[in-house]
Amino acid sequence: MSRFIYKTLTSEHAEAWRELRLEGARDFPLGFLTTFDETEATSLDRCREILSHHGMRGVFAGEELVGFCGYRPQQLERIRHRGEIGPFFVTRSQQGSGAAKTMMAGVIAEAKGNGLAQLELFVDTENLRARAFYERQGFEHVGTFSDNLRIDGKPRNSAFMTLRL
Ligand SMILES: CC(C)(COP(=O)(O)OP(=O)(O)OC[C@H]1O[C@@H](n2cnc3c(N)ncnc32)[C@H](O)[C@@H]1OP(=O)(O)O)[C@@H](O)C(=O)NCCC(=O)NCCS
Repeated sequence: MSRFIYKTLTSEHAEAWRELRLEGARDFPLGFLTTFDETEATSLDRCREILSHHGMRGVFAGEELVGFCGYRPQQLERIRHRGEIGPFFVTRSQQGSGAAKTMMAGVIAEAKGNGLAQLELFVDTENLRARAFYERQGFEHVGTFSDNLRIDGKPRNSAFMTLRL
């Protein structure tokens, strides 16, 4: 059994979540849409508000939050068989530990429980570690989105990946 625990984040996790977001935006810019400055400008109160909507999941080692991921099941009738995940992040000291796998297993189980047929995500085509991880979890690369975002003004391409549930 995994030593990690998957659960929905709430406002009470805001401080730890904000710290992880800052680490991610600073050290893994390919993994985030938000810049470090935008992340730093997001107040603790704003973090509490974001988490109060229950769209963020976390993975814990004991009491400590070590990773998080956004989970957005679609609501409209014609697309509610689909769900989007991201951002998806595990703190550096817990990468390679199985925390990411527990978090992904949690989201997949939740999506299946919600009746979804497909999970989707975008990942930078040069984020090789993340791509290898997603492929091992069963995601397939179905297309490339050119100029999806720009980092310091330079265009970046994203792989669109899906997992049939
Ligand atoms: C993406 C992430 C959640 C994956 O979690 P993780 O614990 O690091 O994943 P794992 O170590 O279990 O798996 C990564 C795989 O990539 C491999 N890998 C490691 N470094 C690599 C590299 N530079 N290039 C290619 N593959 C690499 C690992 O060997 C492993 O494969 P294996 O199990 O077949 O050996 C984590 O690395 C992370 O938070 N990264 C920063 C944020 C990010 O980029 N998120 C993705 C946003 S879309």
